[in-house]
Amino acid sequence: MIKVKDLVKKYGSLRAVDGISFEVGKGELFGLLGPNGAGKTTTINTLATLLSPDSGSASIGGFDVASDPGQVRRLLGVVPQEIALYTDLNSRDNLRFWGELYGLGGKPLEIRIDELLEMAALTEHATQKVSTFSGGMKRRLNMVVGLIHSPEVLFLDEPTVGIDAQARTRILEMIRELSQLGMTVIYTTHYLEEAEQLCDRIGVIDKGRMVALGDKEELIAQVGHHDFVRFQLPEAQRAALLATCTSWIGYFAAAQKKGKMEIEAQDGAELLPYLQAWLKEQNLPLDQLEIERPNLETLYLKLTGRDLREQVK
Ligand SMILES: Nc1ncnc2c1ncn2[C@@H]1O[C@H](COP(=O)(O)OP(=O)(O)OP(=O)(O)O)[C@@H](O)[C@H]1O
Ligand SMILES: [Mg+2]
Repeated sequence: MIKVKDLVKKYGSLRAVDGISFEVGKGELFGLLGPNGAGKTTTINTLATLLSPDSGSASIGGFDVASDPGQVRRLLGVVPQEIALYTDLNSRDNLRFWGELYGLGGKPLEIRIDELLEMAALTEHATQKVSTFSGGMKRRLNMVVGLIHSPEVLFLDEPTVGIDAQARTRILEMIRELSQLGMTVIYTTHYLEEAEQLCDRIGVIDKGRMVALGDKEELIAQVGHHDFVRFQLPEAQRAALLATCTSWIGYFAAAQKKGKMEIEAQDGAELLPYLQAWLKEQNLPLDQLEIERPNLETLYLKLTGRDLREQVK
């Protein structure tokens, strides 16, 4: 449904999107995950025909974004990162305004507006001015505005930023429902947990490049991250362990970390019998064992060198 090949978008000399390629199948929920300034919005806006690519190509539903922007826009709904609502108008009038821009009108438009107000849990606020809305209400309305013309493909650019947990849950539920109805979705976020919970496949983007692509298991496999086996060991035995464990199966590295021993290994479960046998020889118990397996968070940290949670929007 969406094909992107070697896409480049520059701002002056900055390559905000620097040769990105990916595909999204019909009905798929694709996550574009990356830190601030990674190039997510620039990618989305180029695909949405709001910016023109400097090189490379992209098509949606078989229509090229550069040569066929009108067709692309008909297929596409966009929920922008910056809220785009008329605050002097109420929610119904905002939806009607955008509906009329898409050539809708009359009874069908009013029915569609009712459906979307219902979906956004704003039916009771249909005639309330948007200027009096909370951040979460504005986000929900901003989202359904992108759906007014019943698009086949939806781009959502960080739709949950700056809202409370309840509004966020509602928005994520709405996206799941739309996906189940067969809509193709690209969802950008810098929240790892959201991408993980919501998306079928994820592209990790950083500094304009796609640094990893696939479903959760594929992403972790691409990085080839190791397990960490940690346990408590008396000071006196630490040197002996460090001298011995290098021969254990799957051993990669060992160190003392925060008062514990840490062995990095290909597979923690495989290494464990060696550790247990050695401890038995030393007459020591296996104390405070923890095995950390690779997850998307360690992968993300490794790929971008940045912790998503440390970022402040
Ligand atoms: N209109 C513009 N003019 C010049 N530089 C821009 C413009 N828009 C974005 N940039 C730069 O391009 C890069 C990519 O920005 P972009 O907004 O696409 O990132 P993003 O991944 O959406 O980030 P965020 O999570 O903060 O929304 C950044 O370095 C940004 O400063
Ligand atoms: Mg952005």
